[in-house]
Amino acid sequence: MTMDKKLEKYLLEHSSREDPVLEDLYRQTHIRFVNPNMVSGHLQGKLLEFISMMINPKMILEIGTFTGYSAICFARGLKRGGRLITIELNDEMSGFIHSYFRKAGVDSKITQLTGRAQDIIPGLDHIFDLVYIDGDKREYIEYYNVVIEKVKPGGFILADNVFWGGQVLDKNSKDPQTRGIMAFNEMIRKQKGIKNVILPVRDGIMLIRKT
Ligand SMILES: C[S@@+](CC[C@H](N)C(=O)[O-])C[C@H]1O[C@@H](n2cnc3c(N)ncnc32)[C@H](O)[C@@H]1O
Repeated sequence: MTMDKKLEKYLLEHSSREDPVLEDLYRQTHIRFVNPNMVSGHLQGKLLEFISMMINPKMILEIGTFTGYSAICFARGLKRGGRLITIELNDEMSGFIHSYFRKAGVDSKITQLTGRAQDIIPGLDHIFDLVYIDGDKREYIEYYNVVIEKVKPGGFILADNVFWGGQVLDKNSKDPQTRGIMAFNEMIRKQKGIKNVILPVRDGIMLIRKT
């Protein structure tokens, strides 16, 4: 779902400016890594930062660090003494990520773990106020199932890319990532003990509240 370019330009011109460190991180991600379009960017990053500031969480969990853009945004809303744990499967970005956590002044608030989120999360001895699901689209249900019991009552789960470029409308799609997102959206629709809403920002962000 692409927003009209002129409207997007207007919207960004009338939102707080992108932090220079994040601007640089965004640019370097595009120069150095494959699939740079996975990075959050200005609009989504500001929204995540605002959501985090509004919740003011003590513990955040992120699945899918990539180059660290969203982690930095979430970390800005942490309560004093709070912590963000972010999990990334691919260890190639690790030096890059840490250098930007330092430049953004949030390295002391972030623990970055390498591996499969589904394997790591069951061993985490924390209860989270906020969880961000942004890993492999085929695995969203697996992430949800391991994470839900580690979310405090009244806590939130955010899931990115729930439109998957609009492909969720194609009921006959055979694409595994589209099928993964469709199955996740369907599962959430039928879940008990939660409330949810989809924000039509960028590629669709699902907000879930554990009741
Ligand atoms: C869309 S990117 C994350 C973007 C990042 N959150 C941001 O907004 O800038 C998805 C990342 O999830 C990672 N990933 C995929 N499967 C994973 C898994 N099972 N556990 C942890 N990370 C995974 C990928 O390697 C990729 O870097």
